[in-house]
Amino acid sequence: MKTWRVLDLIQWTTEYFKRCGIPGPRLDAELLLSHVLDTSRLQLYLRFEMPVYPEHLAAFRELIKKRVAHAPVSYLTNRKEFFSLDFYVDSRVLIPRPETEVLVENVLQTQEPQCQLIDIGTGSGAIAISLAVNRPEWEMTATDISADALEVAQKNAVAHKCADRLTFLQGNLFEPLEELPNPRFDWIVSNPPYVSTAEYPSLLPDVRDHEPETALLAGADGLDVITCILEDAPRFLKPGGRVGLEIGHNHGPDVQDIVQSNSAYVGCQVINDYSGVERVVIATVE
Ligand SMILES: C[S@@+](CC[C@H](N)C(=O)[O-])C[C@H]1O[C@@H](n2cnc3c(N)ncnc32)[C@H](O)[C@@H]1O
Repeated sequence: MKTWRVLDLIQWTTEYFKRCGIPGPRLDAELLLSHVLDTSRLQLYLRFEMPVYPEHLAAFRELIKKRVAHAPVSYLTNRKEFFSLDFYVDSRVLIPRPETEVLVENVLQTQEPQCQLIDIGTGSGAIAISLAVNRPEWEMTATDISADALEVAQKNAVAHKCADRLTFLQGNLFEPLEELPNPRFDWIVSNPPYVSTAEYPSLLPDVRDHEPETALLAGADGLDVITCILEDAPRFLKPGGRVGLEIGHNHGPDVQDIVQSNSAYVGCQVINDYSGVERVVIATVE
């Protein structure tokens, strides 16, 4: 029987993924193999000649089959790095995207030592937990309509040792706040669903067929959730408070119009991501 070495497996799988139209075939092969061997990608490179045991081969083969059926690598490995932190993810939550780091970076420019912040639609907890790790003195609340997603966020908060500084609430947008005595925040942040019904069928199958629909879809123009957040946010902001939202690639002008037509807002900034796409909107109240 052929002895498969680490390098043989990476090369064979890369070619197979290429033939199956998997984007980033070499990276995916390396991530899946390092997961099966419980090691880092760097260690794979240092052990190219190492033979791989049959039980590891069998596990790797199963992951290859699932990847070819478009299961995202992060769901197969249960890991995704976001803002240099390691997050547990599974099919209950959206896989955090690098674009969302732009929102976190901009919120972290706030210099106030004390700050009350709420993350709406926290999913894996990527935004709230990255902020909590970097601003241990801030008071954070994180909400989601999905109880399943909140379980994942809580698990990540425990892993990053900030569970005691984060309050998790389940419910639709601002509804869970109605039970609190006088909720007022310096920051309301969100990466809400923003895919339009027209765009949804054309998403990559990895996304469309595997990530939660509630995390993606937001009505005919993708603006349903963004519009609701911008409408209600002023009631929950302190004077001078800000809403920071991730938006869809073509939403900049519409979102600016929504903010500018609401007299509660006195400022609106649109920020590009590192691909030059309008990605974050920050609206300020008086
Ligand atoms: C695009 S995902 C963002 C997840 C995470 N914040 C991130 O950036 O990776 C949107 C999240 O909003 C949640 N969500 C969708 N509609 C909601 C609503 N009406 N109220 C609260 N959360 C909602 C989804 O369950 C999902 O977790």
